[in-house]
Amino acid sequence: MLIRTRRGWELPESAATPEGVFRDRRRLLRNLAAGSIAAALPLAACSPGEEDSADAAAPAPALAPAPRNPAYTIERALTPKDVAGTYNNFYEYGSSKDIWQEAQRLQVRPWEIVIDGLVEREFTIGIDDLLARVELEERVYRHRCVEAWSMTVAWSGFPMRSLVEMAAPLASAKYVRMETFADREMAPGQRQFWYPWPYVEGVTIAEATNELSFLVTGAYGETLPKQHGAPLRAAFPWKYGFKHGKSLVRISFVEEQPLNFWQELQGREYGFWANVHPGVPHPRWSQDSERVLGTGERVATQLFNGYTEFVADLYRGMEDQPIWF
Ligand code: MTE
Repeated sequence: MLIRTRRGWELPESAATPEGVFRDRRRLLRNLAAGSIAAALPLAACSPGEEDSADAAAPAPALAPAPRNPAYTIERALTPKDVAGTYNNFYEYGSSKDIWQEAQRLQVRPWEIVIDGLVEREFTIGIDDLLARVELEERVYRHRCVEAWSMTVAWSGFPMRSLVEMAAPLASAKYVRMETFADREMAPGQRQFWYPWPYVEGVTIAEATNELSFLVTGAYGETLPKQHGAPLRAAFPWKYGFKHGKSLVRISFVEEQPLNFWQELQGREYGFWANVHPGVPHPRWSQDSERVLGTGERVATQLFNGYTEFVADLYRGMEDQPIWF
């Protein structure tokens, strides 16, 4: 019989402390112990200690960690950072889950994002200028892949609605189309011509402005690791993970429903909506349960991945339409 002992990180989410906050707290305590005047300064002014030297690529301290928004927490334990960061889907770097090292080829500065299409003002903005214009917060979200595995991640970023407001879409705009970078030098996977690069995803404007829709710039209180889609990726936690376009360079407001990467590749298996529904199987496997990364437990999948109260209104009257794949 397998007897499992509960490990430190298997706390209920409400009891978990974001790692970045924890690290900064440790730093503060260390400075206090040393009687350092620096302890009285804002954390951004503290000089890095020994343990921080590995964080040479960390962002300006003002960007991470961001305060957690308690409106978005769940009852599951956070997936350990190293588990989430070593089991990724990022086909630009290969079709296995083990791409995190290969993904370090991604160059995230300079990084510009084009906002265009049916908007009052098209513009191009550098990621750091964009970050200076938004308020960052941390949210604990479920993440359910269409492949029937899941995790719980502390993302930081800002509501997608803020970006929609900056763009001021015209009434004729019905969808938001998100495009990942295209660079075959930086992403060897893009040399595989049978994939329809660049990776594209899309949501309706109503979905993009739903309070859950989040543009992610960090994870676990730190700058977003490259393998998670730095410097800017999307999160729509009630949808399957393939909707979460990574390393976005272009966000367009369009009239026609965008064709996404997986739909273009295999339209009989992947659709536009991809809302999580345990009762609607993928053509090749069931969606009624999921394997939790880190613990290996199998748990029941929930309608809209547990976010029905936030999103049911978006689909009222559409239940008989194919909004589940
Ligand atoms: N975005 C790009 N550009 N390329 C990809 O291959 N994979 C998608 C999505 N976004 C993908 C992508 C899929 S299938 C999933 S499940 C999630 O990213 C995985 O995100 P994670 O690796 O951060 O967990």
